[in-house]
Amino acid sequence: MQNPVFVIEGLDGEKTLSGAIPVYGAKNAVLPALAASLLIQGESTFENVPGIADIPAMGRILEGLGAHVRRDGRTLTVNAKEITSSVLDSVSARSLRASVLLIGSVLARTGRVTFPHPGGDVIGERPIDLFISAFQKLGATFSETEDTYTLSAPNGLSGGEFFFRVVTVTGTEAVMMAATLAKAPVTLKNCALEPEVVATAEFLKSCGARIEGAGTSTIVIHPSPLTPPVKPHRIIPDRIEAASFLALGALAAKELTVTDIEPAHLDAVIQGLEYMGVPLVVGKDFITVRAPEHLLPTRLRTHEYPGFATDAHPPFLILLTQAEGDSVMIESIFDGRLAYTKELVQMGADITIVSPHRANIRGKTAFTAANIETPDIRAGLAFMLAAIIAKGKSKVANAHLIDRGYEAIENRLQAVGVKIQRV
Ligand code: EPU
Repeated sequence: MQNPVFVIEGLDGEKTLSGAIPVYGAKNAVLPALAASLLIQGESTFENVPGIADIPAMGRILEGLGAHVRRDGRTLTVNAKEITSSVLDSVSARSLRASVLLIGSVLARTGRVTFPHPGGDVIGERPIDLFISAFQKLGATFSETEDTYTLSAPNGLSGGEFFFRVVTVTGTEAVMMAATLAKAPVTLKNCALEPEVVATAEFLKSCGARIEGAGTSTIVIHPSPLTPPVKPHRIIPDRIEAASFLALGALAAKELTVTDIEPAHLDAVIQGLEYMGVPLVVGKDFITVRAPEHLLPTRLRTHEYPGFATDAHPPFLILLTQAEGDSVMIESIFDGRLAYTKELVQMGADITIVSPHRANIRGKTAFTAANIETPDIRAGLAFMLAAIIAKGKSKVANAHLIDRGYEAIENRLQAVGVKIQRV
């Protein structure tokens, strides 16, 4: 089957979008929740699960380990009563970086886990050294063959303390979840503070885990038996999707309301928009945004939460191209993430890559339509925004990569006035 392409008829700078656009459950919250469900000898049910391609991909790996996965609309149930394998399917695991989340739960549950290197990707090197050293610190032994790694702790993980040399989101989640089955307390230091870490801890707590400090830099996990959750666990709103739609509104909306969100997770985004002169009305679970006549230039620097999220950088970089004056984007997390900007230059942006971590942007520049191929989910969204404000008809190829993180995005964009089709 050929990869789908989005065909977008640009607005040529008109600010006409209007209506409401809903945000669905967070990709980066469902994936760790599914990994955590493997720790539970029984059924876990999740609500507000988005219809994105990464979920069936993760589901296939869970089924390969012996779990049963059932989906009914936005509700997904995992039955992990029996886990029959400790080996992650290498083809699936290699194609889904988030499969690293499973290392911890499979190791803790079965005493062993074998997995391939989950691979880097276009946004840069994605090492797993911290996962390995954390589990070694908790008593696991490590071995490797040409194409697989194995961690083994046949008598269970011990307690102890681990300091993350680099703040890592999935690393924090994977080690925290494994530690719930350790024999003694585990203290994790320099943890990621992301809302998805907190949500994963909340799910585990609803299963009986004793976790203190999730959402701060030190998390302590005490031994406690896990039992199937009594209530379904609701997946938190996707703050990156929210940020992407807010950027869209700031670029092209008469009035756009982004609904079903958690504004408390969007402080850095809200501050950035306000600084640029974007009128916002922030409600309890929605934000209404209008594209201003003039956008002010600014300097954005991606940072671990609660700083400005690296995954929100590409859509916001489009906003910077439309600000009047000199802006800067500092990408501090991933060293390959700025590569997509060369396509934007072809469309009319004035961007100078000063280093793998810094782009200087001079605005405002008009965009002309182009045929572009997205290298990853977040750059894909940026290309869609560029196409929406451009003059003429653009084609954004590799739409299947956008589907990894955004459910049926074309339907939601059509509903607020974007002329977009999937072909
Ligand atoms: N790092 C190491 N060693 C490790 C692990 C990470 O050096 O063992 C470094 C990385 O090289 C990177 C830094 O730590 O420089 C931070 O990366 P992190 O580990 O936090 O990234 P991740 O956990 O693999 C999650 C999201 C990403 C998001 C990043 C940063 C999930 C499933 N993925 O990845 O989401 O960009 O955190 O916020 O939660 C996306 O959704 O498009 C996406 C890429």
